[in-house]
Amino acid sequence: MRLFVVLLFAARVAQAQLNYESDVKPVLRRYCFACHGAEEKRAGLELESFSGLLKGGGSGEIVKPGRPGSSILFLAISHEGNGVPNMPLGLPKMPDREIGIIRDWIQQGLVDKPGGKTRLSDRASLEFSGGLIPKPKSEAAMPRQLPASATVDKLRAAQPVTAIAASPWAPLLAVAGHGAIALYNTVTREKLGELAFAEGIPYVLRFSRDGSTLLAGGGKGAVAGKAVLFDVRSGMRLGEFGAERDVVLAADVSADGKLVALGGPGKIVRVFAVGQPGAKPIYEIAKHTDWITALEFAPDGHRLATADRAGGVHMWEAATGGFLVSLAEHKDAITSLSWRTDGVTLATGSEDGQLILWDTRDGFPASTMTPHQPKLAPGTFGKLPGGVLSVQFGPDGRLFSTGRDKAVRVYSSLGKVLGALPPSLVMLTKVAVSFDGKIAFAGDAKGNVHIWDGSKEEMLQPYGLGAQLGDGRNR
Ligand code: HEC
Repeated sequence: MRLFVVLLFAARVAQAQLNYESDVKPVLRRYCFACHGAEEKRAGLELESFSGLLKGGGSGEIVKPGRPGSSILFLAISHEGNGVPNMPLGLPKMPDREIGIIRDWIQQGLVDKPGGKTRLSDRASLEFSGGLIPKPKSEAAMPRQLPASATVDKLRAAQPVTAIAASPWAPLLAVAGHGAIALYNTVTREKLGELAFAEGIPYVLRFSRDGSTLLAGGGKGAVAGKAVLFDVRSGMRLGEFGAERDVVLAADVSADGKLVALGGPGKIVRVFAVGQPGAKPIYEIAKHTDWITALEFAPDGHRLATADRAGGVHMWEAATGGFLVSLAEHKDAITSLSWRTDGVTLATGSEDGQLILWDTRDGFPASTMTPHQPKLAPGTFGKLPGGVLSVQFGPDGRLFSTGRDKAVRVYSSLGKVLGALPPSLVMLTKVAVSFDGKIAFAGDAKGNVHIWDGSKEEMLQPYGLGAQLGDGRNR
C-alpha cells in the first residue's frame, strides 16, 4: 500500500442517494403527469406511483437498474432516439438538471423512498476476497539471455505506446514497439532484451496467467495480422495464430493456456487451440457489428468477454463460444477491459467517458464512473471528450485507469475512488500494474513509459536513443 498514499488527493464527495418519492416524482409531476398520471395513462404508462413506473407501458419495462442507456425512460427524456418517442410529447426537452436526476436515480438502482434499497446486486457479495489464479509451482518466469535489440524501427520510436503488460508473478514488464517487444525488470528497471515482432506493430500484449508465456497480437494495417505466443524464459516462438487481413487489436490466452482468442477490424473473434499450429479456429464469434477492440478470458477459465468499437460488450462460454449475456450500456468504442482476478467483476473503459464495473453474475453494472473528464482552460467553455483509454485490475483487486485527462486513477475493488496521480503533459495511452500491486506503469503518446513506485515518478524510453531512465516530470 506504499504506492499512492502520498499522492492521494482526489477524494470524491459521496453522491447523495436519490429516490423515487423525494427526487424523481416531483420531476415527473411537473413534466409528465398530464399524460401519464393516475387518470390519464397514455401508452398504458402511469408514472404517478413507483409500482406504475416499474410496470412500464405498452412496450413493457421502461427502466433497468444501473443502466440508463438501456432504459426507455431515459432514452425518451434525453431524446436519444433508438425508436423511442421523445418526451414530454410535443414539448421541449426537460432541463439537463432534471434529466440528470432521472439518469442518476436509474444508475443508483431505482431506490423507491428515502433510505430504501437499491435494486443493484448486493455490494457486499461483490467484495474482493482474493484472486483465483494459482501461483505457479515453479519459479516465476523471467527471460534468460534475450537478444539485446531486435530489428526495431528506430525512426518510429516516438510513436504512441500501443501495448504494455506486466507479468502476474514476476518483476517483468513488456512494452510494444514497432517490430519488437522490449522486456524490463521492473525492480532494477534494467532492459532484459527484445523479442522480434516482424509482423509489424503489436497492439496487444498479454501474459499467460502463470506468467510463463507472452501473447502479442498486431500486424500491419489493412495488410495482415496475427497473434504470436512467446516463451518468456527463452524468447522462443511457441505458436502463431490467425491469418487476418488487418491488424489484431485484441487477443488473450485462456487461464489454462489452451486457447488463444483474437480479433480486430475484421469484426470476427476467432478462437484457436494452442499446440495445433496452422489449424483453423475451433470457433468464431460473428455477433459484433464493429471492430473488435478488446477481449479477455475470465480468470475462472470458463468465460470470455469481447468488446467492439460501437460499445458492444458480450460474454461467452470460453470452451464453445456459446452466448451468455450482453453487457449493454456503452455508447462509444470500448478501449479496454479487465477482469478482476476473482472473476466476479469486469471493468470496461470507453471513449464515451464511462468506466463501468459489471457484476458478471447477472450482467448488470455494479458501478459507473466518468473519471477522466479533462479540465477546460480558464475562460473556455464547452465539454472536452473524457474517454477512458485503458483499465487494468491489480492483483489486490484495485483498479487502475488512464484516459483523456492524461491522468492515472486508482479505485478500490468496488470502484470507490482512491486517488489520482498528477496529470502528465502527454496522453497516457496504456496502464499496467506490477505483480505485487506496488508499481503502476503507463505508456504515453510519445513512446515513453512512466513508472510510479512510491512517491517517485520515473520514465523509461524503451525505444528512444540510449533507452535510459529519465525524469518523468521533466519534459
Ligand atoms: C402530451 C402528452 C404527453 C406528455 C406530457 C408526456 N407523454 Fe409520454 N407518451 C405520450 C404518448 C401519446 C405516448 C405514446 C407515443 C408513441 O407510442 O409514439 C407516450 C409514450 C411514452 C413512453 C413510452 C412508453 C412505451 O411503453 O413505449 C415513455 C417512456 C414516456 N412516454 C415517458 C414520458 C415521460 C417521462 C414524460 C415526462 C417527461 C412524458 N412521457 C410526457 C404522451 C405524453
